[in-house]
Amino acid sequence: MIKQAELKAQLIALLADEKDWITNCSQFSAFVFQYFSDLNWAGFYFKHGSHLKLGPFQGKVACNPIALGKGVCGKAAASGRAISVANVHDFPGHIACDPLSRSELVLPLIIQGKVLGIFDLDSPLFNRFQPDDQAQLQDLLKILISKTDFKSSGLL
Ligand code: SME
Repeated sequence: MIKQAELKAQLIALLADEKDWITNCSQFSAFVFQYFSDLNWAGFYFKHGSHLKLGPFQGKVACNPIALGKGVCGKAAASGRAISVANVHDFPGHIACDPLSRSELVLPLIIQGKVLGIFDLDSPLFNRFQPDDQAQLQDLLKILISKTDFKSSGLL
């Protein structure tokens, strides 16, 4: 597995001086999908009123919209807390966009104290996401946030 320091350096180089939020979120999704093993989906949902709308992602077509508080994504967005689900079949209200998904990790995207949306990862393997994956991804999200102008999204 690629080392975290190397991964961070690669993400910094990939985003370079680009600040556009759609460009950078697209690159971020593709980057994570490429470098983390055993994923079948990786991407963003953004908060619009009482719902999440699908943002840049990698993988199969996905459910849209998702009500805040519904599914793993809606619950993470409503609470502003990360949720790791080892077995999606055990999570009441899990929304099965792809029936092959077995585990899921959802990280809130928090900017200036506001939950703008979430970053969601799905895996066809049970128990795919460990605490070190979560810490790694949170670190990478920090880089995305620091390099991106989310104000122009109108979501802030
Ligand atoms: N499984 C998610 C829905 C989004 S997809 O996995 C891309 C959920 O329960 O919120």
